[in-house]
Amino acid sequence: MIARIVWVLGIFLCFLLGWFVYIIIPSQVLDPSPEGEETPPPNFGLVEVGQQVYGANGCSGCHTQIIRPANMGSDIARGWGNRRTFPVDYYHETNPFLGIVRIGPDLSNIGKRKKDSSWFYILLYEPNQIFPGTIMPPYKYLFRKVRAEGKRNPEALPPELDRTLPNGMQIMPSPEAVALVAYLLSLDRSYPTQPKKQ
Ligand code: HEC
Repeated sequence: MIARIVWVLGIFLCFLLGWFVYIIIPSQVLDPSPEGEETPPPNFGLVEVGQQVYGANGCSGCHTQIIRPANMGSDIARGWGNRRTFPVDYYHETNPFLGIVRIGPDLSNIGKRKKDSSWFYILLYEPNQIFPGTIMPPYKYLFRKVRAEGKRNPEALPPELDRTLPNGMQIMPSPEAVALVAYLLSLDRSYPTQPKKQ
């Protein structure tokens, strides 16, 4: 009888230990509760949709959104950010795309580095145009070829990008591409912030 109680107690203690090590301690160490007003504004509207497009297209398979402290890597020296990122930076994001592999540059602050939406459209349509020889895949399916109706739309991509483009047609970003670029432009985690515990 005693042996059984010891068994059950032992199993219970194992669960308790796992719960402490994996749930309680991390929740204390990574406490994301912000101090004062210093949280980024929540994503909504187009930016929120754009974040879903980012996830759906696997961008986080090659790009991270996490800046390491200056003494733990060259992220800041490379100009990817002016400070390390804190849990508070993702406070309003239910699904932050931190990423684990860096095949391309970190995008935590890409909206601060690049502010021209047409640059992003060209990059997504034909990455080789901006980075010759890059392994970033083209996302042509996020664009549509539509009739120009006699007038070039200011949002249209340069027609030279597609040599097979029939006369009178233009390449336009789809609603997904518009949302994705709005999301990329919104990525700026350079505001000053300090989490409660550090
Ligand atoms: C197979 C890996 C891969 C995937 C998937 C990928 N990228 Fe890239 N991306 C790269 C690489 C590599 C570069 C750097 C260009 C170079 O020098 O070759 C880059 C560059 C960029 C840049 C420019 C960064 C800067 O600092 O100038 C942006 C923005 C970007 N990618 C956005 C995206 C988005 C958005 C997606 C998803 C729709 C995506 N990438 C998917 C590999 C990838």
